[in-house]
Amino acid sequence: MTKMYAFWSSVMLTTGRYKGNPVAKHLVIPGMKPQLFERWLALFEATCRELFDDTTSEAFRIKAERIAKSLKLALFYRPEHPWPPEPRP
Ligand code: HEM
Repeated sequence: MTKMYAFWSSVMLTTGRYKGNPVAKHLVIPGMKPQLFERWLALFEATCRELFDDTTSEAFRIKAERIAKSLKLALFYRPEHPWPPEPRP
């Protein structure tokens, strides 16, 4: 949690508290797949709505969506292997 506090502090308040490499960490998670990001974002948004007012949770949602998109690209996008994989002929 300390790490996540530092991460979101850096993202929302540009405090620079987070030092790390999220891409490398997520790359080695077993079973990681692009489809999980939708669920992640839905849970994250629901949690923000419980905790914060509309303006603040919207600000978190926008940041989270942007980061999720770039994390997903970093983890899964390979120009030579388009996603979703083409069905085999
Ligand atoms: C399908 C989506 C995701 C899954 C299943 C997932 C899962 C995980 C897991 C298991 C870890 C712990 C890794 C470890 O310590 O070895 C982790 C760390 C982390 N995740 Fe995610 N994550 C997801 C998406 C995201 C997104 C969208 C963000 C940012 C908006 C994020 C931010 C982080 C950060 C900052 C850490 C700490 C990395 C570090 O140790 O420096 N994750 N995640």
